[in-house]
Amino acid sequence: MTFLEPHPMISIRLIATDGSEQTLRAIPGQSLMKAAVDANITGIEADCGGTLTCATCHVMIEAPWAEQLPPPSRDETDMLDFAASPVQPSSRLSCQVVLKPELDGMVVHLPASQH
Ligand code: FES
Repeated sequence: MTFLEPHPMISIRLIATDGSEQTLRAIPGQSLMKAAVDANITGIEADCGGTLTCATCHVMIEAPWAEQLPPPSRDETDMLDFAASPVQPSSRLSCQVVLKPELDGMVVHLPASQH
């Protein structure tokens, strides 16, 4: 008899500007921001708690995972204008990135600063 894990975890690599790396193990279905904050990942502040009003959850998501995500909403794009660090084409607000099994192994870059 085979037992399937009810919630298989996925792994995400978060890389800071100094090259240091943190690994996040998370359950799909929650936002990248929530999973990172719960795991005490350094570099995602999320001052607004995910209500899309702070831009302190800014991250850059590498290809090919970035293409697995729905495009940002107008509100997300507008709020990214308030990010403390320069916005890249791969920039997203991590509170709007919902984790799913296809994102296992995703590489995420953290900005130099969130404030
Ligand atoms: Fe504030 Fe994402 S947590 S915009």
